Amino acid sequence: MGFAEQNPRLASLIERDKAAVWHPFSHASLEGPPISVKRARGSWLIAEDGRHYLDAVSSWWVNTHGHCNPVIAEAIAKQLYQLEHCIFAGFTHEPAVELAELLLSILPENQEKIFFSDNGSTAVEVALKLAIQFNELRSNGDKEAKRRTLVRLSSSYHGDTVGAMSVSERDTFTAPFTDYLFEVAVIPTPTEDNISEVTSQFELLCSKSDTLAFIFEPLIQGAGGMVMYSAEHLDRLFEIAKQHNVVLIADEVMTGFGRTGTHFATLQTKHEPDILCLSKGITGGFLPLGATSCSGEIVEAFHTPDRGKFFYHGHSYTGNPLACAAGVASTKLLLEERCQERIAKIQELHTVAIKDFSSCPGLTRARVTGTVLAVDIDCGEDSYYLNPIRDKLYTFFLERGILLRPLGNVVYILPPYCFTDSELGSCYQAIAEAGREFGKAA
Ligand SMILES: Cc1ncc(COP(=O)(O)O)c(C=O)c1O
Repeated sequence: MGFAEQNPRLASLIERDKAAVWHPFSHASLEGPPISVKRARGSWLIAEDGRHYLDAVSSWWVNTHGHCNPVIAEAIAKQLYQLEHCIFAGFTHEPAVELAELLLSILPENQEKIFFSDNGSTAVEVALKLAIQFNELRSNGDKEAKRRTLVRLSSSYHGDTVGAMSVSERDTFTAPFTDYLFEVAVIPTPTEDNISEVTSQFELLCSKSDTLAFIFEPLIQGAGGMVMYSAEHLDRLFEIAKQHNVVLIADEVMTGFGRTGTHFATLQTKHEPDILCLSKGITGGFLPLGATSCSGEIVEAFHTPDRGKFFYHGHSYTGNPLACAAGVASTKLLLEERCQERIAKIQELHTVAIKDFSSCPGLTRARVTGTVLAVDIDCGEDSYYLNPIRDKLYTFFLERGILLRPLGNVVYILPPYCFTDSELGSCYQAIAEAGREFGKAA
């Protein structure tokens, strides 16, 4: 008999969950019972049955400094008794102002203002709407001058709301909604082999007077399979976009806050984007918060006394003080030398690990950018997200006490920065074992 059956409270919780809760990306009748988490510390999730799980994916890429980090917890607790929330139109508060200033001090230099929302998808929606209205304002009512086309990369993922889905890859996630999504132009993700072709394609698109904006996940395309590409190639695309006044929207929802080795991925490019989307790591994984930053040029275009031309967008919880207080505490932790050293160390260990993976049977295309390591299990099955190997791999790692959530046959480590060398070592070892067990040579 398992722990849950022997423990009536836990058994009942799982039953009630099954009856009442709809979990994302899953179907209760097809999945095993969810793991009920009682508490968490540092890199570890601790289940009700006492089992410990090493959180090697930072709980969907949000957790940067470990679970229940006392500095962030304390900042939220202090804020909780001061001001829990208030309307953000016509009112403001210290945590929001402090967070906006702090972000602007580390974002690319041309960024001038922060617009708060609730999550990564809303940060993207705000970015798209800002770009569209900016274009409307700069065309000054001239229909001829108005642009319409948005451009995205292949394998892109920008969120699950309708605008964000429209600029994402058409795949399993978007299939039922295809008829309701707006059309966008697509260029391949640049590689060493296709860069000339991609730049020509992009040049052709941008030289059409209709192209409005280009949205991309800089350096790493996360949900699309941890596809990595270089800052140099991205800069080639930036140059073309700049020549043609195409708005550059960097979706740094996953790559922000140290994931690629620098505070933001676009700090590795020579040119600066016009708009950045932030979320996930912004509060260290404590509370939901989205932020969209934009350049002075965009801010300036909205400076109009005409009330009909304001940016009419806002969410009830915009600028929530608790989330902003968490954001300030988490960002300050990120800037500490100790955290920067851990980020550099994780990158160094990942780089050694991928060299080792090159001689491991069953593993292929091992790659690293900053603190993100990804490798494909060479299982001889081409399909991506619905690859049947995914569930086997997920269970294999959980049985070893490691939470790794493969994307199809792509296994990746995206750890909180408190991960120790030995915790990383156990992930590398489990991945090498998975290659031996599930690789096509097996
Ligand atoms: C690059 C990127 N943009 C946007 C999102 C959407 O964020 P959220 O899940 O918070 O809506 C994600 C989520 O994975 C993401 O990776």
